[in-house]
Amino acid sequence: MSKKLVVIGLGYVGLPLVQAAVRAGFDVTGLDVSTRVVDGLASGRSHVDDLSDSEIAELLSAGFTATTDTSVLATADVAVICVPTPLAEDGGPDLSAVMSATDMVAAHLHTGMLVVLESTTYPGTTDEEVRPVLEAGGLTAGKDFHLAFSPERIDPHRCSSGVLWRFC
Ligand SMILES: NC(=O)c1ccc[n+]([C@@H]2O[C@H](COP(=O)([O-])OP(=O)(O)OC[C@H]3O[C@@H](n4cnc5c(N)ncnc54)[C@H](O)[C@@H]3O)[C@@H](O)[C@H]2O)c1
Repeated sequence: MSKKLVVIGLGYVGLPLVQAAVRAGFDVTGLDVSTRVVDGLASGRSHVDDLSDSEIAELLSAGFTATTDTSVLATADVAVICVPTPLAEDGGPDLSAVMSATDMVAAHLHTGMLVVLESTTYPGTTDEEVRPVLEAGGLTAGKDFHLAFSPERIDPHRCSSGVLWRFC
């Protein structure tokens, strides 16, 4: 049976990742807070330059669905966080969307799940900010669930090695 992957944040990073994962054989759901984004994708419209409407149609016919319903995380084998990290006033990344997405995952975290942070941020964010929120429910990273940071890569479907998808 295909592994179920939820991509959180369906923008310039998340959507190409969805495409790569669908092509790699994952059962992929996209989760976004924007009903405009979700409704647009459900009706076959791309809102990013790197994917055409016909490529969205291909994803939909392969079983991809987009939703604002966070309960899809309850049955996910893998969740990848691809939400924005705009610059904050102090020059560092504004982590509010990352922490909001982390809260969503924490509410549905279960044994064996792999959680990947892909948003651009400073070294240490995964361990110092994301991990404590996920572990607050009693599960331990590295023992009960898996936690990783994947440096953001635009256009992952052009990656010839496919390294990202072999470990799952
Ligand atoms: N786009 C690029 O060229 C690029 C390049 C390098 C790094 N990055 C990094 O990649 C990350 C994602 O950027 P992007 O360009 O894909 O952003 P984007 O703005 O294109 O898309 C982000 C999506 O996340 C959704 N979102 C926001 N908050 C959310 C939440 N809490 N839960 C679920 N969905 C949420 C938004 O509605 C939007 O659809 C950022 O950290 C960015 O800095 C992007």
